[in-house]
Amino acid sequence: MKIALVEDDINVRKSLTLALKEEGYNVLEFRDAPSALKKLDDSIDLIISDITMPKMDGIEFVKKINGKYDVIMITGNASLDRAIECIRLGVKDFLTKPFELEDLISAIQRKKRYKEKIKAKEIKAGFIVEDENTLKALELAKKTAKTNVPIMLLGESGVGKEEFAKFIHKESGRKGEFIAINMSAIPENLIESELFGYVKGAFTDAVNDKKGLFELAQGGTLFLDEIAEMPYSLQAKLLRILQEKEFFPLGATKPVKLDVRIVSATNQNIENFIKNNKFRTDLYYRLATVPIYIPPLRERKNDILPIAKQILENSLKEFGIEKKYFSKESEKALLEYEWPGNVRELINVIKRAVILSESEEIKPEDLFL
Ligand SMILES: Nc1ncnc2c1ncn2[C@@H]1O[C@H](COP(=O)(O)OP(=O)(O)OP(=O)(O)O)[C@@H](O)[C@H]1O
Ligand SMILES: [Mg+2]
Repeated sequence: MKIALVEDDINVRKSLTLALKEEGYNVLEFRDAPSALKKLDDSIDLIISDITMPKMDGIEFVKKINGKYDVIMITGNASLDRAIECIRLGVKDFLTKPFELEDLISAIQRKKRYKEKIKAKEIKAGFIVEDENTLKALELAKKTAKTNVPIMLLGESGVGKEEFAKFIHKESGRKGEFIAINMSAIPENLIESELFGYVKGAFTDAVNDKKGLFELAQGGTLFLDEIAEMPYSLQAKLLRILQEKEFFPLGATKPVKLDVRIVSATNQNIENFIKNNKFRTDLYYRLATVPIYIPPLRERKNDILPIAKQILENSLKEFGIEKKYFSKESEKALLEYEWPGNVRELINVIKRAVILSESEEIKPEDLFL
């Protein structure tokens, strides 16, 4: 593990370097942030930085790093504003000087464990999760996947709720299929027969039995997307099914035993739906036994470049282009942008840039027209 230590106080710097080296870490020391910025490269695993420093302070430094590296802050005068500023910039680990070496080591170990976990996850999930904020959500999803409790995925549009739902299905080990239905995409009068199916003769047009999605998902996972949009009249029915663990296809006389894992999702503020009597509280508690919030891309900046590079690679393959890469300025622009459309927007922006950029180097003006 390679650590960059940025600290202007020579005594603190030398003693920390010595102690960390004794612990077996590879340490690069810098007396100020600008000289560190010149030397930082992909081989660095972690940065430990002071806040109060000449030339450039720790906060400015963290801004410049812009989520590219993990950072532990050590600070002499732990003022609240600065701590808040750091948290806003995504730094979560602080130590106030004087601190015990032990505390620093355990903060480093924690970071290291996260990194290792991420590596294992990346392969399993098939989608990319590198930021601690997303990783926490993924950990929770993984832990809950093995049980049968309903999970509700919350988060803005394009953050990856469906990817998470598929991940939960994969991790659950359930042998059946992953079936998704979007509540806002099906006309209200058809949702019921889509979900529960019907038997021949149940109504005039029912010339054959039709299996509903609940039945198709037996032994597997049913993903109820845009759940907040579920017609109110159907919510009571869904609640009953979840409570009784069985359902009747339309016109059926015998119930079907339910063996379906329910994952639901919404990008709406479901609490408002509940307040406005558009969504039943009791159903909410049933569906959201475990709510999992997936943060927007701007709150998980460490995910941006890894996902961007993966999308770039996929797009090059898709379009049969040999080589293109992001310029340093482009990487910076990708990190600074707010991404209101989250990962979906990131995909679109990169695909377009791959097609439109004239040179091998993708420049900011290719990304943000
Ligand atoms: N971590 C990730 N790594 C790579 N690709 C991702 C990741 N998360 C999401 N994607 C991709 O981004 C797109 C949007 O993701 P997804 O459809 O899961 O979002 P969503 O939260 O369900 O959005 P919406 O609320 O609009 O339905 C998909 O193409 C998905 O494959
Ligand atoms: Mg979705």
